[in-house]
Amino acid sequence: MHGQHAPTTTQQAALAARYGAAVPMAGPWNSTIAGMLDHRSVRGYRPDALPPGTLETLVAAAQSAATSSNLQTWSVVSVEDPAARAVMAEIAGGQKHILECPLFLVFLADVGRNDRLGIEEGRLLAGMPYLETFLVAAIDAALAAQNAVVAAEKSGPVHRLYRGASQ
Ligand SMILES: Cc1cc2nc3c(=O)[nH]c(=O)nc-3n(C[C@H](O)[C@H](O)[C@H](O)COP(=O)(O)O)c2cc1C
Repeated sequence: MHGQHAPTTTQQAALAARYGAAVPMAGPWNSTIAGMLDHRSVRGYRPDALPPGTLETLVAAAQSAATSSNLQTWSVVSVEDPAARAVMAEIAGGQKHILECPLFLVFLADVGRNDRLGIEEGRLLAGMPYLETFLVAAIDAALAAQNAVVAAEKSGPVHRLYRGASQ
């Protein structure tokens, strides 16, 4: 860190958009931070098809997140079946964007995979019955999901797709 640098116009605008008048001290600035500060949840989507490789890229970003003890206790499922999406949309309280989004990824806290691997190796994994293991899995899943979100929001064509036409 080399002390406070002069904020760029973009940085000033982004910080002002986030904090209003109480803009914090300007620090490092780059496209990653700009993308993070620009985050808004978007619930309306263009009908365009996603660019090829979008799913793979988002999963790669998700798999690059930190994971407690490198256990990778999460899984992700891309739900394409409209009937399955309809059930999930209803369970989620009638969220129609679940039906309409071009890609619907369900991130799971998944301790079952490691449990099965242990069974296959003839070993019972000691941590399985503990609340901490579930917490670690939920946190791992959230970190992976957030990495995917940041990747989606920062990808040019994907970004535009995820920004609804009205936003
Ligand atoms: C754990 C978690 C669960 C969320 N669940 C939903 C949800 O079911 N539906 C939805 O539209 N947004 C959901 N959101 C998005 C939040 O509503 C949103 O991030 C929050 O209102 C702040 O708005 P912003 O993301 O635009 O800054 C969820 C966010 C988190 C972190």
